[in-house]
Amino acid sequence: MCGIIGYVGKKAVSPILLEGLRRLEYRGYDSAGVAVLDGDELLVRKKKGKISEGLARLLKSQPVAGNLGIGHTRWATHGPPSDINSHPHLDQSGRIAVVHNGVIENYDALRQKLLATGHKFKSGTDTEVLAHLIGDYYEKRRTPGSAGVPPADSRAELPTRQRDAGAPSSNPLTQAVCDALREVIGTYGIAVICADQPDTIVGARRGSPLIIGIGTGENFLASDANAIVAHTKKVVYLNDYDVATVTSARFDVLNLGTDTANVQVSKLEFSQEDAVRGKYEHFMLKEIFEQPRTVENALRGRVDNEGATAKFGGLNLTSAELRSIDRIVIAASGTSWHAALVGEYLIEELAQIPVEVEFAHEFCYRNAPLEKSTVLLVVSQSGETADTLAALREAKRRGHRALAIVNVVGSTIARESDGGIYMHAGPEIGVASTKAFVSTLTILALLAVHLGRLRNLSARRALEILHALEAVPKQLESILAQNNAFKKIAKKYAKADDFFFLSRGYTFPIALEGALKLKEISYIHAEGYSAAEMKHGPIALIDPKTPTVFLVPQDSMYDKTMANLAMIRARKGPIIALATEGDKQIGKVANDVIYLPKALEPINPILAAVPLQLFAYHIAVTRGCDVDKPRNLAKSVTVE
Ligand code: AGP
Repeated sequence: MCGIIGYVGKKAVSPILLEGLRRLEYRGYDSAGVAVLDGDELLVRKKKGKISEGLARLLKSQPVAGNLGIGHTRWATHGPPSDINSHPHLDQSGRIAVVHNGVIENYDALRQKLLATGHKFKSGTDTEVLAHLIGDYYEKRRTPGSAGVPPADSRAELPTRQRDAGAPSSNPLTQAVCDALREVIGTYGIAVICADQPDTIVGARRGSPLIIGIGTGENFLASDANAIVAHTKKVVYLNDYDVATVTSARFDVLNLGTDTANVQVSKLEFSQEDAVRGKYEHFMLKEIFEQPRTVENALRGRVDNEGATAKFGGLNLTSAELRSIDRIVIAASGTSWHAALVGEYLIEELAQIPVEVEFAHEFCYRNAPLEKSTVLLVVSQSGETADTLAALREAKRRGHRALAIVNVVGSTIARESDGGIYMHAGPEIGVASTKAFVSTLTILALLAVHLGRLRNLSARRALEILHALEAVPKQLESILAQNNAFKKIAKKYAKADDFFFLSRGYTFPIALEGALKLKEISYIHAEGYSAAEMKHGPIALIDPKTPTVFLVPQDSMYDKTMANLAMIRARKGPIIALATEGDKQIGKVANDVIYLPKALEPINPILAAVPLQLFAYHIAVTRGCDVDKPRNLAKSVTVE
């Protein structure tokens, strides 16, 4: 996912773009660039690498001035990270600049068409093709008597209704953008400026987020609110096929698909302080330490001790409709998929509803049987993950209700779901998801209680779970207080090349999550596995150089998990155990032990996640990795 920012107003645009890009860098950091209208010259500054090493230095040595500009941080899809492939890209005339987040699937056909009319390209990107296409139509729109509008057969993507509808715009740049987008197949969030229009930015979206930030005498465009929350909290979330024309004084939105766009002004829930690192060395560490508050935020207003249940405001399903659900499919990706696996254990145990967890990208492309009474639940921190959004849209296309657990308010998944539950975890900037994961586990436990109480879950058992959840923030505080002990253990194993993370039952998904955390920020090969499954082959990989992190809380699987642990130990595999305080056995069989507070079995996943986050964090820092911006990754993957 790339980051986009645009500004039009009275202030010097360069520092606003640079600061905004710094706040967006977690979304993609292969390269960064800006285009600024300096007088009547459109100047571009762009550089491979992180902002501090590339663009910031370039702007120091070659400053640009002006009040209109756009900026971009890139996570490469088409064309490797390089100066020339960085955004912004210019059209043939050099007077139109475009930044883009998404993938234009038919870019090669469009490129061939433009090459045939004499266009020349400098980069290998799909975005440069789009810039030239916009420039081509802009020229036609400006040349008197030209048709301008693309031939009917070229509007490949838009459903029939959308090909002819759509309120016209008087602005030739907006018209040219609309003309070009009618030929595009794929996803885009774009911002476009033109040297002829010193007070206008045109923005458009399909499948990649884009918002308008509303200021006084100034306005903004951004791919997410982090980039502009320092300037305004009034935003408009654009919808798919929206095209916005933004000046310093106003904004107009049309929709390529319907006659009028649905424009709603919203207020951002979080502040600028939430989106800064503060005293912490990394956002990831800050967000790990925020987790006691995160759980409190997830619980706030949702625990009904009177009724011995949990309550939600946004499910948009009656109790009768909830009772009629006879299967839940949970679709998600990455860390959110691991949370979904815990959700399966929780909902099946407490509500006795069959749950199937799917990778979102698999769900969309296999013809999974869905009964009328099946509900799809998607989980997504960003609310923009393309795979997960596609799963949501597929379920709705087939006529099924789709609920969502999301963190980012106003995100595409939040707005397209039929109902859902917000995490209220605040901005999660670290690429490795931590507090959103723990928030999701808390919400899934509440949801399981809610669904269970509509069925046969006893008030006593429900209250046990609710009270155990309310005790979690304090328990997380006690775990976080052991941070230095975790750091010591982590340093001991930081040089290992391979790890296993093993467990069974409720904490099996946490073994998967612990392995992912380590992989994605330290680049060490790590496998999460069922402790019982190891003996069916993978145990061949155990040797004295391969440490195993064993999650072995005192739960219903304890004896069997300890037996599996003995198999690893018999083969001289070093063992780092996560065990329950008071366990007298574990110290005799593990090389190192991290103790967790005693908790109910369904609560153990929340507690066990935090030491594994810190374990991965300290190993990555010891290995000198860029914890907040790991190589090859982006915070939210908005391409399939
Ligand atoms: C988690 O640490 C990763 N960054 C990644 O797996 C992430 O969980 C996944 O891409 C899903 O993101 P989402 O929750 O925003 O949909």
